[in-house]
Amino acid sequence: MNDLLGLAPPPVLERIQADTEAMGFLMGSDLQVGALLRTLAAAKPGASVLELGTGTGLATAWLLAGMDAAARMVSVENDATVAAVAQRHLADDRRVRFVIADAGAFLVTAAPQSVDLIFADTWAGKYTHLEETLRLLRLGGLYVIDDMLPQPNWPEGHAVKVAKLIDELAQRTDLVLTKLSWASGVIVATKIRSSSVSEEIEATL
Ligand SMILES: C[S@@+](CC[C@H](N)C(=O)[O-])C[C@H]1O[C@@H](n2cnc3c(N)ncnc32)[C@H](O)[C@@H]1O
Repeated sequence: MNDLLGLAPPPVLERIQADTEAMGFLMGSDLQVGALLRTLAAAKPGASVLELGTGTGLATAWLLAGMDAAARMVSVENDATVAAVAQRHLADDRRVRFVIADAGAFLVTAAPQSVDLIFADTWAGKYTHLEETLRLLRLGGLYVIDDMLPQPNWPEGHAVKVAKLIDELAQRTDLVLTKLSWASGVIVATKIRSSSVSEEIEATL
């Protein structure tokens, strides 16, 4: 199997990639992660999708390609210049709403248990505001992060933060999680009822 063969990316991706390269934006998601996101979005008909860190819209395009007509996405980015690329190519798609804001500020005001799929691709949602982010997920909702394997652009001391995040996620009783040492390093987690809550319910039966 070659996971880069036959990917059939959404046609708009090539145009976004060209603009991304032209502006020297180096933090874009890779093709494998994009394909995974498309598959996960397709598994959630009518989903409410949240992307934290739009960048130039590479993952946004993959997510939209997996979403059905009833699904909706909010994508949050604090840099209007990079988000303008995503908006130029994707804003005609009425299923996506671009929000130019600090993701941390957005997260603290968002409605709990209202989201089916979160791609957390910036600091907030991973290294800060983790609790606020996971609180947004419905039961059965998916939390996806990448860049968990060492990357050339990691700042000094980042590896420690990554290890701490992985540990924190693995210890939660309200997530079922899979680590994929693949592509840039991915974690896919499903929100479940916390085992302590399930145990309390069982105890009352
Ligand atoms: C890894 S890149 C996102 C890549 C994009 N999701 C993709 O698939 O190509 C992270 C993005 O988060 C943005 N960002 C950084 N701090 C942020 C914040 N506090 N709020 C919102 N976005 C932020 C950066 O400007 C950058 O575009």
